[in-house]
Amino acid sequence: MEIFVDSANLKEIEKWLRMGIADGVTTNPSIMFNDGVYDMEQGAKEIANLIHPLPISVEVTTNDLEEMLTQAQKFASWAPNIVVKIPQVNEHGIPCYGVIRELESEGIKVNATVALSLGQVILAAKAGATYISIFAGRVADEGGNAPEVIRNSVDWLERWKYKSKIIVGSIRAVGDVLGAAMAGAHIITIPPQFLSRMADHKYTRATVEQFVIDANKALEMMAKVKTQDIGPRT
Ligand code: E4P
Repeated sequence: MEIFVDSANLKEIEKWLRMGIADGVTTNPSIMFNDGVYDMEQGAKEIANLIHPLPISVEVTTNDLEEMLTQAQKFASWAPNIVVKIPQVNEHGIPCYGVIRELESEGIKVNATVALSLGQVILAAKAGATYISIFAGRVADEGGNAPEVIRNSVDWLERWKYKSKIIVGSIRAVGDVLGAAMAGAHIITIPPQFLSRMADHKYTRATVEQFVIDANKALEMMAKVKTQDIGPRT
């Protein structure tokens, strides 16, 4: 399973990259805005350069399918590791699978985003999307069972040998990450604050604290043994 960082914050991305945790990055216009990235092109290029050759997803910002195509082609020209996010449908409910198909046929990798159902996953896979993003938190917002959608999607893709990989996004708690992992997600894209929470545990801290205390006590004893020449304890 791979982990992507769901962020446009360069420092956070670099931090998780250096630890060997990050296999890629996902953004969307809201993430970029909230992380203070107002110039999409500059922001995307900086991230792409930092994580190259790992992939970074950048999302189109229009409802018009023709414009979506030209925007996606422009984004893909910014760096070789840019994957373009195309929604399943635009805000008027018009399916965007033709755009996905065209981009993939041109060699541009697509992340078919905002998938909330198995039906959408099936269509995006048939259109040839490299990645399909299931928004677990938003599935749950609607009363849906996100792990079930993820498990069914992964099973279906594998049964019919589609190349598409499921990215689970819209993570709202560490439990969502674990649920997605156990449901078989190929990739989970995690906001940095939940990566930190995953790493942390108060009992791990307390255990490490005890080890440090005892190691220091041992050092003190060693110093005493040397100065008093009383020899080591048996
Ligand atoms: C990632 O690819 C998604 O854009 C992101 O996780 C969406 O998260 P949200 O549902 O919290 O907006």
